Amino acid sequence: MGWLEGSSVLVTGGGSGVGRAVVVRFVAEGARVVVLDRSAERLAELAAEWGDSVRTVVGDVTRYEDHVRACACAEEAFGGLDTFVGNAGLWDFARSLTDTPAEILAAGFDELFAVNVKGYLLGAKAAVPLLRRSRGSIVLTLSNASFYPGPGGGPVYTAAKHAGLGLVRQLAYELAPDIRVNAVAPGPMATGLSGPKAMGLADTTIAREVPIDRIVTERSALGVAVRAEDGVGAYVLLAARESATTTGAVIDISTTGIPRRHTSSAAPAG
Ligand SMILES: NC(=O)c1ccc[n+]([C@@H]2O[C@H](COP(=O)([O-])OP(=O)(O)OC[C@H]3O[C@@H](n4cnc5c(N)ncnc54)[C@H](O)[C@@H]3O)[C@@H](O)[C@H]2O)c1
Repeated sequence: MGWLEGSSVLVTGGGSGVGRAVVVRFVAEGARVVVLDRSAERLAELAAEWGDSVRTVVGDVTRYEDHVRACACAEEAFGGLDTFVGNAGLWDFARSLTDTPAEILAAGFDELFAVNVKGYLLGAKAAVPLLRRSRGSIVLTLSNASFYPGPGGGPVYTAAKHAGLGLVRQLAYELAPDIRVNAVAPGPMATGLSGPKAMGLADTTIAREVPIDRIVTERSALGVAVRAEDGVGAYVLLAARESATTTGAVIDISTTGIPRRHTSSAAPAG
């Protein structure tokens, strides 16, 4: 019997990358999943592959009414909602404050925060009535950029992911004791992650632009490239009833928080 047997889950951004890996694993754990994503094409693939276990809703996480439609779909198809996974996100491709023209910075901020922060807030707002009924939980996708500055983000992305951490803590406080609110913080990996149109980053992906596997292998403690499916156990754990006393927690699954240890004689001093 799976950890999430019989539970009903809504995942945003489940058409690709981390969200897709969460959907696949949750289904394997016995859950039935509604996926809200803006890509009709990716959703059609998911629906074809997973049949009755997955329902799809084409929509935009920046629009409250789209979250409401996705929640209604969960209620109608699966009888309610046990877990809301807020995950859809954009990246700023580490564009710096200094090198980004002011008007692009301003428009990029509005677009990225609308997805990465407002999208989580509105999703939670729409899901709360159903989650109160099931005494369910919220799991948000954060990032190593929720904790550390560095080359993995520009100020817009890092600020948005820090804001996500604030949301987890404030909502854990506000929604207790009925609804638990937790998060998973992945690190860099090659996915379809794209950026704000206003910054000219809508049609590219992290996998295409950045040699992520090489960077992560060279710099992270474990020395291995990470795949989206590697960290999904953390989502399962937080969504499961086994975590009934866990709220306001973040599981940091990024391997880059701990730097690679130099073992050769060429190790730098200090
Ligand atoms: N890939 C990484 O290196 C990395 C590292 C740390 C954290 N994360 C986080 O993981 C989460 C998922 O990213 P990913 O890497 O899987 O990216 P991805 O692009 O592969 O998947 C994100 C999905 O979200 C959807 N989406 C984007 N904007 C949307 C919107 N406005 N409305 C509805 N759907 C929308 C996309 O269509 C896509 O299917 C994000 O929150 C991201 O910040 C990613």
